[in-house]
Amino acid sequence: MALPTKTDEWVVKSASSTNFNLHLSKSVPIQSLGPNDVLLEIKAISLNYRDLAIARGTYPLPTTFPLIPTSDASALILATGAAITTLAPGTPVLILPAPLHTTGPLTSATHAAPGDGHHPGLLRRHAVLPASWVARYPAHLSYVEAATIGAAGLTAWNALFGAGLPGVAGGAGPRGIRAGDVVLTQGTGAVALFAAGFAVRAGARVIGTTSSAGKTRWLRALGVAEVLNYREDGRWGETARGLTAGGEGVDLVVDVGGAGTLGQSLRAIRYDGTVAVTGFLSGGEDGPGPSLMEVLPRAANVRGILAGSRAQYEEMVGKMEEWEFRPVVDERVFGFGEVEEAYEYLWAQKHVGKVVIEVAK
Ligand SMILES: NC(=O)c1ccc[n+]([C@@H]2O[C@H](COP(=O)([O-])OP(=O)(O)OC[C@H]3O[C@@H](n4cnc5c(N)ncnc54)[C@H](OP(=O)(O)O)[C@@H]3O)[C@@H](O)[C@H]2O)c1
Repeated sequence: MALPTKTDEWVVKSASSTNFNLHLSKSVPIQSLGPNDVLLEIKAISLNYRDLAIARGTYPLPTTFPLIPTSDASALILATGAAITTLAPGTPVLILPAPLHTTGPLTSATHAAPGDGHHPGLLRRHAVLPASWVARYPAHLSYVEAATIGAAGLTAWNALFGAGLPGVAGGAGPRGIRAGDVVLTQGTGAVALFAAGFAVRAGARVIGTTSSAGKTRWLRALGVAEVLNYREDGRWGETARGLTAGGEGVDLVVDVGGAGTLGQSLRAIRYDGTVAVTGFLSGGEDGPGPSLMEVLPRAANVRGILAGSRAQYEEMVGKMEEWEFRPVVDERVFGFGEVEEAYEYLWAQKHVGKVVIEVAK
């Protein structure tokens, strides 16, 4: 079969505070295949809050326009460059959310992602990418499911298992969560549901929050023990702490809200507990958030998370296969011609879990 030479791609022309400024460019030439590249037919793309923030001009890191947005996709390899021996055409893969970060700590040189404002994203029918940017995904997942596990799944994995909890003084070093720990997650978005699902499978007790009584069932279905409504209970962090043995507090909060939630997250944890800061969903309207000095009274550990390495991704894939873990995909899956609707849907927070665009739909 002849390989495609042209493709269609969505472009954000510039940041706008009133819309997403998305434009479909048709029949764009596909870049030629280098010896270390793969030609991909993109099958499904999942959206992240970052994609909205970049288009709305609220993303906290510098961005250059115009850009092809989005960073999460599954794909089929159509062709491989002359130097590639480990991947073959016909192999399903996903594109790693932090493809240069292979193992160990993140560095300036390895901090990069497709669709981050500097590297072209994946909202297109085909892409030529370095072969080192793709990875296999759990075999039991569909293309739609696989497109969701990159950024959100790996961020949740890193928050839970990336050795963020302190070891016992004088004993073992930092550790990830384990059976019997108590974890608090926030809302029913993608990172929160991955975190809740993974933590339950690891034997932790999970306390979840949501603003919507109707979405509680999604948390319960994952095995979340208690659900608090963060809109009705503004002191949800203290309430969560009261639900733990002796009122000591939770071991780990996976914080997705940022400035608007960190104050309560710090109140939820036990002494020497950890807050993994993954997101900024509460936006800028909540001011700068609590003072850094608030970590002192709880002897708190606060850890920022930027996705994770390929090594962590491989660990996650291994466990997802062992657990036969399936991500939560919102019941509405969009087609390639419905990208603006998909952005609006995520913006309105009508979704549960991941919002996905299926290219062939
Ligand atoms: N650090 C990284 O590498 C990385 C990777 C992926 C994502 N992120 C960031 O992590 C955050 C979450 O991403 P996501 O993909 O899970 O987003 P998402 O799917 O858009 O999450 C939306 C949901 O979060 C909940 N929510 C919104 N505001 C909240 C608040 N103030 N307090 C508690 N819950 C709130 C709501 O759940 P209810 O409707 O149930 O209330 C909402 O439906 C975003 O800021 C994203 O940019 C970071």
